[in-house]
Amino acid sequence: MIEILPSILSSDFAHLADQVAAAERGGGTIIHVDVMDGHFVPNITLGPPVVKSLRKATKLPLDCHLMIENPDEYIPAFADAGADWASVHYEACRHLHRSLELIAQHGMKPGVVLNPATRVDLIIDILPMVHHVLIMSVNPGFGGQSFIEFSLEKIRRLVELRRHLGLAFRIEVDGGVAHDTVARVVQAGAELLVAGNAVFGAGQPERDARAMLDAARKAAGQ
Ligand code: DX5
Ligand code: ZN
Repeated sequence: MIEILPSILSSDFAHLADQVAAAERGGGTIIHVDVMDGHFVPNITLGPPVVKSLRKATKLPLDCHLMIENPDEYIPAFADAGADWASVHYEACRHLHRSLELIAQHGMKPGVVLNPATRVDLIIDILPMVHHVLIMSVNPGFGGQSFIEFSLEKIRRLVELRRHLGLAFRIEVDGGVAHDTVARVVQAGAELLVAGNAVFGAGQPERDARAMLDAARKAAGQ
């Protein structure tokens, strides 16, 4: 099922509850929360206290995208704060299998994230453990960047692997998903569409979340 995941990175943080509520009215069904530590990526955003506040502001699942080093140290805190999904970067985990187990042990849905330069085939062995795979279609760190075209090939490869292995993980895409790219992303096989700038950038999250969802459903023939 196609879903829009509004990424609060591009929202007005001083009015976070209102921004999330508007994106939900527009059809957003999962809130994407970008956690950046200034080490793994060249930007700093938010941590468990903000997730805890968000948890009180919405009933939607919170999808925490951990762009941090040593994620194992913080996974319990995100679970306690109310995160529903947590994804860690292949590139940030020395023991990826252990990190994914830790996420599941804390009652969250485990996901693995791949930077643009990381091949999909590197994660074949852990695919049975994940609830979702997040393909980065920009280099992580900032909203509003341009979609990297070869991400479409990676989505297609993941669809092929999922079929071949008989698995059911969901395929999420993050970065540059906007009106000019969403159809191709959906046609490649992604179903969880993160959108930051396209939803919040113009200050009309309800209208723009709905426009993204409509475009995505149309491309999927739904
Ligand atoms: C980038 C973040 C994204 C970001 C996407 O590092 O992981 O979630 O919000 O922003 P847009 O949709 O503007 O490319
Ligand atoms: Zn993200």
